[in-house]
Amino acid sequence: TKVPGPIKTFSHTLPGQHLYHGVLFFGFSPPETLDAVRDFQVKSDDVFLVTYPKAGTTWMQEIVWLLLNDANFSLAASSPVYMRSPFLEFKDDTLQEVGLDIANALPSPRVIKTHLPKKLMPEQTFEKKPKVIVLFRNPKDVCCSYYNFYKSSSSFGDFQGDWPEFLEMFLEGHVDHGSWFDFTKSWWPMRDATNFRFVFYEAMKINLLEEIKQLAAFLGKTNLSPETLSKVAEHCSFESMKVNPMTNHEDVYSIDSSVSPLLRKGTVGDWKNYFTVQQNEEFDQRYKKEMADLIPTIPFKFS
Ligand code: A3P
Repeated sequence: TKVPGPIKTFSHTLPGQHLYHGVLFFGFSPPETLDAVRDFQVKSDDVFLVTYPKAGTTWMQEIVWLLLNDANFSLAASSPVYMRSPFLEFKDDTLQEVGLDIANALPSPRVIKTHLPKKLMPEQTFEKKPKVIVLFRNPKDVCCSYYNFYKSSSSFGDFQGDWPEFLEMFLEGHVDHGSWFDFTKSWWPMRDATNFRFVFYEAMKINLLEEIKQLAAFLGKTNLSPETLSKVAEHCSFESMKVNPMTNHEDVYSIDSSVSPLLRKGTVGDWKNYFTVQQNEEFDQRYKKEMADLIPTIPFKFS
């Protein structure tokens, strides 16, 4: 019989932390909200944007919202991206940002953001078959981005830990929304479904316009001209989004941008500035163990 190893304990506790079906969440995704998400009324013309935190969600939200709204830049300038594209399982009464309420009030077609693993999605996702965009990013860069976000965002409590501690937390899924490995493995089998499109942050960095063209085709937005798609790409460059108050989240009370802004570096490979040689080897080992079956089908080499 297998003898269980020691259960790792971590000093950091998230405000309102709880386990929901084995996945760790902070208090801004309370159990009753996660229950209500299961019963959320999905519409077949919804577009779900599924990401693990820090994969480039905000970037994709702005792109997809603009594509679905015929590149209406003036409407995009009238409210923050998180109000136009709600975060389904998020509930912050102080900010009056309640994802389910925003989603229910929005006109169609809706762009709905979620960080949930597949098993916690609204049940109707798999009946109504809305379009689903799943965005991935090298988990090493995700981890660095998440570490900086933990430092700057009060939503995660006053995180006093250092990088080695955060890396351990990330590997064990002891972070808001749980394990990157579990999230990725849950969604990967959907990659060939016709209503799904898998996108990589790294591919967007290589050729944003090409990715936007493909997304427009996937969304059936054949009416958008090449000039319009180029304008969307310009509007969604890191430099533009960083100074755009509707996308940079500098108005969000819980994020201290002087510690680390949401649009921090926006690069590929920043992990090399954080991982020691040994940490990198350990990460690679773990990645290979967890992802063995998936690695041949991942177009980017992440380890
Ligand atoms: P870094 O911390 O590495 O800079 P999310 O929106 O999922 O929270 O992800 C945030 C990450 O996406 C941050 O990564 C942020 O800089 C990056 N990002 C946001 N907008 C971007 C853009 N227009 N181009 C490139 N990266 C962007």
